[in-house]
Amino acid sequence: MRIGMLTGGGDCPGLNAVIRAVTKSLIRQCGAEVIGIEDGFLGLIERRVRPLGWDEVGGILATGGTILGTSNTASPFAWRGRDVSAEVVAYQRELGLDALVTIGGDGTMTMAARLGEAGGVPMVGVPKTIDNDIAGCERSFGFDTAVATVTEALERVETTGQSHGRVMIVETMGRYAGWIALEAGLAGAADVILLPEIDFDVERVAAVCRERHARRRATLICIAEGAKPVGGALTVERTVAGSPDPIRLGGVAHLLREQLQPRVDAEVRATVLGHVQRGGSPTPFDRVLATQYGNEAAHLLRRGQFGRMVTLQDGRLASVPLASVAGQNRRVPLDHPLLVCAREIGVCLGEAG
Ligand code: F6P
Repeated sequence: MRIGMLTGGGDCPGLNAVIRAVTKSLIRQCGAEVIGIEDGFLGLIERRVRPLGWDEVGGILATGGTILGTSNTASPFAWRGRDVSAEVVAYQRELGLDALVTIGGDGTMTMAARLGEAGGVPMVGVPKTIDNDIAGCERSFGFDTAVATVTEALERVETTGQSHGRVMIVETMGRYAGWIALEAGLAGAADVILLPEIDFDVERVAAVCRERHARRRATLICIAEGAKPVGGALTVERTVAGSPDPIRLGGVAHLLREQLQPRVDAEVRATVLGHVQRGGSPTPFDRVLATQYGNEAAHLLRRGQFGRMVTLQDGRLASVPLASVAGQNRRVPLDHPLLVCAREIGVCLGEAG
């Protein structure tokens, strides 16, 4: 077997652990040759690949980022105004690939599946995202690391906030799902957690800040980038042309700061954590999960189970047809046990009324 492998879309901690596990498992279990494709689909368009062997993937388990590089704007179907998918398919054949391992999000996998339909080699997908929002997958690698980073940030911001008696707002990533803010908010003892799934009432949040200020307590607010006020809109930081989802959220912490400041006596400060959540070494949990995902992807390849994505369901490794997850988004259900728990211990979720 000759297998190509690429990482596409935004990076996340644990990608190298997957690359390592896929390569080692394929070499050891069936003597396959593994070809690394550089910078996602850009490498297929620009014909940039390199062999991956035991030595190439040695020592990368704990390294952040991706040794292959990635791109979130290179589509073979619309490359500089042209459809170059036929050339890309021809290149896959030239390389003698039997299949492709695509480590990416929804956009990357949909593209790989489309290439397969256009005559390209079949694919097996490994889901990646710090957002933990992939349908049919209860835990994506990278999420645990992001939660650990945000938790540490919350703890650091809390001590300085307490010294000054301030209201401190920390904004997390997560796109349209509040998983990072919810778990890190609970782990970092946030007083207020604001999620995309529950529009927040600014008066309600201000009341919490005032009540705490009266007791000489700082207030720690953890807000997801996709949260919005009741009746308000998403805060868009920029749009990225050519990206499968061109909208980049960011800055809602500043909007909340502006709305809160006139309503409270304490000084209100905002911190947007940004890409610090995506970089660095994966946690031990993510290293193990990513290794299992990589090994499971190799199993699917050996069994010829193509067009499927590796997942975790009820704590067990599984796989689902790509078509069943494409274009969907796994958000926090309003009856999720962590939301119920947060409410019951007195965390404000910004709910109106
Ligand atoms: O999907 C992962 C993610 O980090 C989101 O949480 C965030 O909204 C987005 O990617 C940022 O993308 P970029 O790195 O392209 O700005």
